[in-house]
Amino acid sequence: MIRFDEVTHRFGEIEALRDIDLEIEAGRTTVLIGPSGCGKSTLLRLVVGLVEPTAGRVIVGEEVVGPNTVLDLRRRMGYVIQGGGLFPHLTAGENVTLLARHLRRPEEETESRLAELCALTHLPESALARFPLELSGGQQQRVGLMRALMLEPEVLLLDEPLGALDPLVRRELQRELREIFGALHRTVLLVTHDLAEAAYLADRIVLLRAGDIIQTGTLDDLRERPAEPFVRRFLSAQRPPVEL
Ligand SMILES: Nc1ncnc2c1ncn2[C@@H]1O[C@H](COP(=O)(O)OP(=O)(O)O)[C@@H](O)[C@H]1O
Ligand SMILES: [Mg+2]
Repeated sequence: MIRFDEVTHRFGEIEALRDIDLEIEAGRTTVLIGPSGCGKSTLLRLVVGLVEPTAGRVIVGEEVVGPNTVLDLRRRMGYVIQGGGLFPHLTAGENVTLLARHLRRPEEETESRLAELCALTHLPESALARFPLELSGGQQQRVGLMRALMLEPEVLLLDEPLGALDPLVRRELQRELREIFGALHRTVLLVTHDLAEAAYLADRIVLLRAGDIIQTGTLDDLRERPAEPFVRRFLSAQRPPVEL
């Protein structure tokens, strides 16, 4: 569904990603993991065309992401940016429906989709009239997810969607996300720095370090067949440590 073809991305002197070859399978959940600064967010931003590769190509479906294709492609993708990115001056409901209204989707359709998404993400409909700052962290994340799902995207890109939540809410949302992914059968590309979360949500884990893919596979692959000593160090540095 998504293919990175020898993709390098540089910000000036900084090589954020180096010669990345990666295929993201349709209908499955792929989780990007790795230390801060290893290029996870940049990888997602390349898919939505917010940054352009310095070399190589990113292909979504049959189309190369580029100036001529990016607007159409974005309609087929839902993206939750790191930190949520809700518009503070719009209510939760307005945040979710902004694009649908901009595209002049029939109002009835938008309203019924909104109710459907509240049910799917367990957001009380009464929360829709509130502004982001009047919502709990967990509710804000739900609203971000609803906004990404509004137009029924084929591809869902989530950048640390459970980043700033307390552990109990995080567990609850992890369970819900897994249910949602299972129910929707969409192509999901999710970023986290939490390995337990990655293992819980992923069909496949992609471990990066400083712009390189170090290993892809399941948690068992990483644990039992580490590609490099770094993999073991990364696993044992998790809190709680992953048992080797
Ligand atoms: N807009 C930018 N300008 C300059 N450097 C950037 C920019 N965005 C990211 N970087 C750098 O690129 C590298 C990868 O960043 P990022 O993809 O955000 O990592 P991650 O999401 O894994 O923490 C880091 O060294 C970061 O400092
Ligand atoms: Mg990031």
